[in-house]
Amino acid sequence: MSEDAQGHFDLKSMIFSLVTPFMLKAVVLLGIPEMISKAGPLSLKQIVSRLSNVKNFQPDLLERILQFLVHKRALSEKIDEKDGETYYGLTPISKWLAEEHHLLLLCTHEYPMAAFQKVNEAVLDGGHAYEMANKSRVWEHDPGHGDEYVKLLNDAMVAWSSVTISLVLEHYDGFKDVKKLVDVGGGLGMCMGKIVEKYPHIEGVNFDLPHTVSSAPAFPGVAHVGGNMFESVPSADALLIKSVIINFSDEDCLKMLANCYKALPRGGKLIVIELIYSKEGPFEMDLDMIMIGFTDGGKTRRFEEHKALLENSGFGNVSLVAVPSKEQVIEAYKL
Ligand SMILES: C[S@@+](CC[C@H](N)C(=O)[O-])C[C@H]1O[C@@H](n2cnc3c(N)ncnc32)[C@H](O)[C@@H]1O
Repeated sequence: MSEDAQGHFDLKSMIFSLVTPFMLKAVVLLGIPEMISKAGPLSLKQIVSRLSNVKNFQPDLLERILQFLVHKRALSEKIDEKDGETYYGLTPISKWLAEEHHLLLLCTHEYPMAAFQKVNEAVLDGGHAYEMANKSRVWEHDPGHGDEYVKLLNDAMVAWSSVTISLVLEHYDGFKDVKKLVDVGGGLGMCMGKIVEKYPHIEGVNFDLPHTVSSAPAFPGVAHVGGNMFESVPSADALLIKSVIINFSDEDCLKMLANCYKALPRGGKLIVIELIYSKEGPFEMDLDMIMIGFTDGGKTRRFEEHKALLENSGFGNVSLVAVPSKEQVIEAYKL
């Protein structure tokens, strides 16, 4: 095949790749991963018998979607020798969708989708695509967005962080001597809950916007505190800031990091957990593009960029602590 023709086919395949998350979303909204997780592999007929609100069911449509997801390794299929039926099972990919599909629902939500239509305008005219499309900054509660979207955002962050925080706690012991720890932008407090569960001597504070902490569940040993990190951060001998820097511009990061610096005593430690930009990783550059559509100036940064932000906010002894996780730990001290 000529290079030209190959290029044309590669372009098609790049364009069509947008359907995968939407087909995953369709099966999640139909409750299929959850059904299979409870019952084990199911045939099309068995799936249909478990669906609710069916008015004019289209079995061929569902079957084509299931077959597509088998092709994408998001479902497994096995033909039963006795009844000749195809049974659909979960794979290591869809196993997660049975429990934690909020990140998928967030990424396919109409607000970020609308923002992606504005990226070219943002490039030329300045401003942020998300704000241009939705007339609101992503983390600022806007009644127009409704509680449902805010809940989805917060639940998606729990889904984003659950595996990382377990891996960090398994391989990084930098929390063990901390007496009081504040998680800055800690969301619903799941990470702090797990840290205090492992180190019950820690007085844990989960600090986030008032509308986020007001809906946070209780975790033993964790106090939820509402506030604005651009104004001030509660003081503690150590602070954690996980997946927050990635959401903001350098200018915003310098403001919040200056407040983190103020909140620490001399010798106090800031523990940053972030995905580090890499051209080799499986989704690091994709996530950088996601940040264009989802945030107000956020981006994935190289370690050197994190170090510069931290040093420009007054921190010293900045070091990267490698953990076998997609997100890495960066320690910095108030010297
Ligand atoms: C990407 S989420 C990270 C949540 C959590 N740290 C994690 O890793 O799962 C960013 C968090 O920053 C919080 N946030 C945004 N602006 C804030 C502000 N001005 N003050 C405090 N928290 C803020 C959001 O509400 C959200 O919970």
